[in-house]
Amino acid sequence: MDLTFAGVLADAATRLGEALKSARHPMHAPVIGTADGDLRIMVLREATPDLSCLRFNTDWRSPKARLIANGGPVSVLAYDPTARVQLRMQGQGRIERTGPIADAAWSAAQLSSKRCYLATSGPGAVLDGPGAALPEHMLNRSPTADEAEQGRQNFAVLLVEVQTLDWLQLTHHGGVRARFVRFSAADDWQAAWVAP
Ligand SMILES: Cc1cc2nc3c(=O)[nH]c(=O)nc-3n(C[C@H](O)[C@H](O)[C@H](O)COP(=O)(O)O)c2cc1C
Repeated sequence: MDLTFAGVLADAATRLGEALKSARHPMHAPVIGTADGDLRIMVLREATPDLSCLRFNTDWRSPKARLIANGGPVSVLAYDPTARVQLRMQGQGRIERTGPIADAAWSAAQLSSKRCYLATSGPGAVLDGPGAALPEHMLNRSPTADEAEQGRQNFAVLLVEVQTLDWLQLTHHGGVRARFVRFSAADDWQAAWVAP
């Protein structure tokens, strides 16, 4: 790759673009951080090439949905151990439960993924015993399209507008690290090479 700021930005966007397409890609399920200091894995569903929008699907009932709401800070950490590239991103998050983006994301979701949203208790709710909180008849199969629609009310998207990107590649010679900052996706990146 090109060791220029443009080359590094393109590298990050390409990696995330590839990560969307394959569950085997090491960046397919990055670590997502919230303002309360908590972290969790989420599957990356969409990434625009300019990083103005990363999309994740989630349950509206989850604590992070309330915490992020409309503008909470979100961090995203992805690592490819083969390429030894780490991407650290931060930005403004937004949870959308209705509207064209959430509708399109729901339509695009597989029935097997839609099943999660049929859970009778939201993520983090206390249960009587171990289990998935799914209706008994749904434990060993995907829902039909009709059955899945019950889950739509619990479904939301998390959208992240990336405002900082820290790109690091470790090499045998030490490594290379670049930092990019912008106020919003409408602004140009301010870029700098920094010590790894
Ligand atoms: C491999 C893997 C993929 C996951 N993907 C998602 C996801 O795409 N969206 C999501 O909300 N939670 C996902 N989870 C569950 C979260 O890590 C987390 O446990 C859950 O969202 C709980 O919500 P909270 O973070 O609000 O407490 C995934 C977990 C694993 C292990």
